[in-house]
This record gives sequence, structure tokens and C-alpha cells, in this order.
Amino acid sequence: MQPKDWQKDFPVAEPQPFTQPHELPGPYGPPLIGHLLQISSEQSHLTLERWAERYGSLFQIRLGRSRLVVVSDHKVIQRILEQRPQSFRRNCVIEDRFSEIGINGLFTAEGEDWRRQRRTVVAALSRTRLASFFPRLKATTARLQRRWEGAADGNQLVDVCRDLTRFTVDVTMQLAFGVDPNTLETPGPVIQRHLEKIGPGLQRRFFTLFPYWRLIRLPPDRALDRAVKALDREVEVIIRATREHMAAHPGHGPTNFLEAMLMIAEHEGSNLTSADLLAHTSQLLLAGEDTTAYTMSWIVHYFTRFPEAFARIRREVDDLIAPAAALDKLEQANHLPFLDAFCNEVMRLKPVAPHMALETLEDTEILGCLMPKGTKLFVLLRYAATREEHFAGGDCFDPERWLPQPAGHGNQPHNTQAFVPFGAGPRICPGQHLAMLEIRAVLAMLCRNFDLRPVSHGKEVKEKMAVVMRPDHLHLRLKRRSLASSVPTCAPTAMAASRSGASHDL
Ligand code: HEM
Repeated sequence: MQPKDWQKDFPVAEPQPFTQPHELPGPYGPPLIGHLLQISSEQSHLTLERWAERYGSLFQIRLGRSRLVVVSDHKVIQRILEQRPQSFRRNCVIEDRFSEIGINGLFTAEGEDWRRQRRTVVAALSRTRLASFFPRLKATTARLQRRWEGAADGNQLVDVCRDLTRFTVDVTMQLAFGVDPNTLETPGPVIQRHLEKIGPGLQRRFFTLFPYWRLIRLPPDRALDRAVKALDREVEVIIRATREHMAAHPGHGPTNFLEAMLMIAEHEGSNLTSADLLAHTSQLLLAGEDTTAYTMSWIVHYFTRFPEAFARIRREVDDLIAPAAALDKLEQANHLPFLDAFCNEVMRLKPVAPHMALETLEDTEILGCLMPKGTKLFVLLRYAATREEHFAGGDCFDPERWLPQPAGHGNQPHNTQAFVPFGAGPRICPGQHLAMLEIRAVLAMLCRNFDLRPVSHGKEVKEKMAVVMRPDHLHLRLKRRSLASSVPTCAPTAMAASRSGASHDL
């Protein structure tokens, strides 16, 4: 075996050179099932982070007969992420599970197929497209405001994740597919209700001994089947309408992702079938909605936990946009430094992707261990970001750390390389600018218009993995804020830049 020798660039002390994956340290797991019973699919990230604490930067686990190597050193992780798609890929089990339900797009694509799809998706989510999309985003934010005003007036409980998922579905579908489902103002079950069943259904299937559902469908599998069928029906209608619209308006350039895909298929005479289109479209929708909605939900949760910081963000928003009720111009989104600092800090502690499953595409050496081609890896993205050596006060919530520091504080560890909520390298999230715009628009509107009252029903808000990590049991009551008392009292605050490496300017 001829391992790649990139380890030279990143000398790390442990473990001894040229071990094999099966020689790495790791927790005890019984034969046959390995650690399957010790890792619950909904809490996988927490268990792996706990074991990283104990077994170090590189250790092994077994899921059934499959051995996985877990990596928590951030320099190695950066390098792995950068060496895609040629040397590493997503774990093939992920592609397999998505393909099986007919949802297979950029996230699960590899090699040349990935390169082609990536160009189209990046163009559809570019900053230029976002600028022209801003009026639609504003209108969708206004709908969310009306929905929450209704909830406040009726003293209704707000299911934060659900409402925010309706918002992100409306935004993603308008931007990427040019259709407006208006789930925010549609009563009863909407497309979002199907989408929310897909994540948990898939998550279960990542952590099973064998694909039993190919032999027998249990109730969760039937629920997943129903959700996928319902999603297919909805997306099919959209694809048909887009084809008809394009046929009626020939000669126009593509105005969204779906039109671009259809044009490429036509020009290249490619054999992109309707099923392929459905697969790509559905996966983009899935990639964009839960991630952004759950990130916003975590931030709202932290608003309730840190009322003083919430009040400070509110002052910042008031100073910037009052008397308006929400962001009015795209540029305003770049002038909320404390809100941005707060968001970064929440994403550091509660990233919706705390880990990622990958595999090697060639024989590779990692931290002195020889990994044959096909070795399955888990990289722990959150772990380094919560360590004292990278961020002073590791697991303490401190948004201030993201603002320029007074003289003398510059020596505190603040390693933005260890902060990768959107991934890194060539496969970094192409939706990050859209996501940050949505987050700022919604949270500015929330701070400006509502007071928040958390409702616990005796249940703690907990981390739960369903492909991405969501806050479980997050409910609120909202109260309308009296805007009369909230006009700015001083000139707009000076715009502090965020610390390098963590700015999300649009
Ligand atoms: C706060 C919100 C979001 C977070 C935290 C997030 C996070 C991530 C992460 C960690 C990855 C994996 C990156 C890697 O492999 O290095 C990813 C990939 C991806 N994201 Fe996002 N994402 C968000 C929003 C969005 C949005 C709004 C869209 C589109 C509408 C989107 C579309 C995608 C796609 C298509 C990929 C696959 C990219 C590829 O493999 O080339 N994401 N995202």
C-alpha cells in the first residue's frame, strides 16, 4: 500500500506510525453488533464526542460488521474536507439510503457528476441571485410576522421548528424552483409536514445492523414511504408547471435552479430523466430547509436563555431599521455585528451538522494510521470548536468573542479554522449566503416585533439528530412588542467588523 504522505504538513504526536484501523483504541463493543446498541441514532454525535474525549483524536468503532474510524483533530478534518472529491467521498451508505428513496442530488453526488451539479447549484444560490431575490424574501418574512402576530393575539403556543421550517420551505422553493407554496399562510398539513418525516426516517436507517426494510416494512418505514410519495407528488407538479412555462416562453435564460437543470438537459441532450430531476430537486429542498430552520431555532432558544444579549441585539436592530418592522434593504443585513456574533456563537455550540460521515477513495495515512481505500470515517466537526485550546472558555456561551477584542485580549485562543458549521473545502455548503440572509431577516423581524416567553412543559430543550441536529421540545409564546417605545434613541451604532474568518457578508 502506498499511503499519501500529507501527514508531513500536519505533524501531530499521536498515535504511533503505521497502525491499522483495527489497532486503534476505542470502546469495547461485542462481536457482530459492535457499538450499535451503544449509539442511539438520535444521539450519535453526543456519544462519539464523549468517546473522543476518552480515546483521543483517532479511534475506532464498529457498527455491525463495518469498522469506522472517528477523527476529531480539526487540522486533519480540514485536510480531509479539502481533498474531496478526489481522495475522500461521503460514506456510500448515505448515498445508498438516499438513492433508495429516490432522493439523490448534489449532496450525495460524487466525481464528475458532482462537478456538473455543483456548478448549477452554486449559480442558483449566488450572491447576485440573492440580491434580486431579496424583495421575495422580505415578503416571506412579512408573512411569518403575520403568522406570529396571529399566534401572539390568540396566545397560542408556537412550535418554533415547525414555523421556521414553513418559512425556509417557502424561501427555498421560491428561489430554487420559482414557485411559491405559501405554507406560512396555508392552514393544515403542507409540504413541510412530509419533509419533516424524511430526516428521522433516514437517520434510523443509518444506524441499523442490516437493511431489514428491504424484507419487511415497519411503521416508521411506512411513514417514510408515505412522506416520500407525497413529496414526489408535490415536486412533480412543480416540474410539470416549469416545463410548460418554459415551453410557453422560449428563448429566456434560466431564472432558477429547476429551469437551469431543464435547459442543461435539453442543450446537452443529456439523459436526465424526470426521476433524476425529481431526485435533484427534492434533495436541494431538503438540504436547504431543515438546516436553516433548525439553526434559527437554536438561535431563538439562546435568545430566551440570554435575555441581556437579546436586549442588546434588539437595540442594534432598532438603531438600524426603526421605524420599519423588518429589514428593508439587502445592505442592512451586513450591519448587525452583534446579531452575527450571537449567531456564530450559537453555531459553534449547536451546529446542525456536528459530524459528517465520509470514506477514503484511496489508501491514505491519517495521524500515523494506514487507512485502506474504502475506510469509513466519522469526522467530528463540533468537537474542536468547543475545546479550550481553540476557543477560550470552550463550552461557555460568549458572543463577545466574535467581536474585535480590546487590547490585551488578543492572546486568548480564537481559532476560526476549528469553526466549520458549513463544512469546508470544495464541497462547502453552497447555500450559506442564502442561509445567513434568511437568518438575519427573520431574527431582526423577531427582535423588533416580539417579546419571547419560553414554554417548557417540564421538558428540557434537547439535541436530537434527524440527519441534522434539531432542538427538541422548543415551544414559545410570543407577545407583541409595543413599537412606540422602540424608536432609536441614538445615532446608529458604529459597524464593528467581525473577527476574521467568521464573517458572512453578503
Ligand atoms: C444554516 C444553514 C445551513 C447549514 C448550517 C448548512 C450546512 C451544510 C454542511 C455542513 C454541508 C456539508 C458541507 C461539506 O461537505 O463540507 C452542507 C452541504 C450542502 N448544503 Fe448546506 N447548510 C445550510 C443551508 C443550506 C441552504 C439554504 C441550502 C440550499 C438551499 C443548502 C444546500 C446545501 C447543498 C446542496 C449541500 C451539498 C454540497 C456539496 O456536496 O457539494 N444548505 N450544508
